[in-house]
Amino acid sequence: MENFTFYSPTYFVFGKKTEEEAGKYVKKYGGSKVLIHYGGGSVIKSGLIDRVRKSLDSEQIPYVELGGVKPNPRSGLVYEGIKLCKEENVDFLLAVGGGSVIDSAKAIAAGTLYDGDFWDFYSGKMIEKALPVGVVLTIAAAGSEGSGDSVITKEDGMLKRGTGSETLRPKFSIMNPELTTTLPPYQTACGATDIMAHVFERYFTNTTEVEITDRLCEAVLTTMVKEAPRVIKDPTNYEARANIMWAGTVAHNGIVGVGRSQDWNSHAIEHELSALYDCAHGAGLAVIMPSWMEFVYKHNVMRFCQMATRVFGCHMNYENPEVTALEGIRRFRTFLHSIGMPINFEEIGAKEEDIPKLVDKLGLGDGKTGGFVELSSDDVAAIYKIAVNAHL
Ligand code: NZQ
Ligand code: ZN
Repeated sequence: MENFTFYSPTYFVFGKKTEEEAGKYVKKYGGSKVLIHYGGGSVIKSGLIDRVRKSLDSEQIPYVELGGVKPNPRSGLVYEGIKLCKEENVDFLLAVGGGSVIDSAKAIAAGTLYDGDFWDFYSGKMIEKALPVGVVLTIAAAGSEGSGDSVITKEDGMLKRGTGSETLRPKFSIMNPELTTTLPPYQTACGATDIMAHVFERYFTNTTEVEITDRLCEAVLTTMVKEAPRVIKDPTNYEARANIMWAGTVAHNGIVGVGRSQDWNSHAIEHELSALYDCAHGAGLAVIMPSWMEFVYKHNVMRFCQMATRVFGCHMNYENPEVTALEGIRRFRTFLHSIGMPINFEEIGAKEEDIPKLVDKLGLGDGKTGGFVELSSDDVAAIYKIAVNAHL
């Protein structure tokens, strides 16, 4: 195991009706003028936004609102939010929604306290300070409710880029699994895929002797294999929703990745798909991650066998471990398909002829990237090519 530090200071408030306490927690973390940030309307339709307003009113906390965050959130709305926060002297961001809303709120939070262009932070500049952010989560997926990360797409060139800073970790996250029952099955499945991908990015490591994090990763993965089909079948199953919601946070707040190297190439390769085709991040991952696995598994066949046997219940073939490794990858792809996820380019509207453009936008040039297997631009092109033709 490698040396590590772990600091995950978000205060989690989990369970039924907890959104009614939003105002209380804004007050606890010092908010006196709030920007309520939300997406394309699901929170209005469900009545959630009214309950959040009411809880702020009951604490006598004034607020302004900015809705309209799109999935794969855009820079344009971030600039609008920064302007609004400065004009209205906002000192607290309350994100009511999923990863896109939370990431947009984080960008506004950092940009409001910065004199330059907030995009600098998504081009490599370190974030030193940001307004505090609180969350009322409506979808189990990105894990942004417990992470210090934010991913924004710049309209000019449709560049999707991320940034990370401890200052962006939400002060509190309110997580009521009931709020996720209104999700369409496709969106639920996209979330489940993203949660599993966040674990796999950490699971495939070159660090040895990390039994504790291996087993934590497998706990989250096996939970998802059990619970995701249950909520697809019965969207109102509270217990399954609750397990998935917490799995989403545990998968990405850092705890399953400590003490080990991590990969993250599938995410980088996917982000180019969701930037170019505006597909859901989870859907892009369902297409890319098994394809990435097929490309890299020979690097450490036994680690893929571990996944195959412990997560997908495969029988270990000691005479020919490659058979087991490939069977594990096949079962992962079959599982994704079974919950309604796309598995190849065509199913997300991607085009083979765009591969050079996707590779170019990733911007590796002659360099390499990745923590498990380092990939060149040619390797990335080969993974996209596998994804073009992927089938069950
Ligand atoms: O906009 P509304 O109307 O609210 O609808 C949303 C949206 O269309 C809908 N939705 C959310 N909760 C709902 C609901 N519909 C009905 N009932 C509910 N309870 O779901 C759609 C997708 O929402 P979005 O926020 O985009 O989903 P997700 O949480 O998957 O976030 C995806 C974004 O997060 C980024 C992704 O790249 C993508 O941009 N990521 C952020 C990370 C982070 N900050 O740590 C890490 C991830 O790897 C990821 O890259
Ligand atoms: Zn993700």
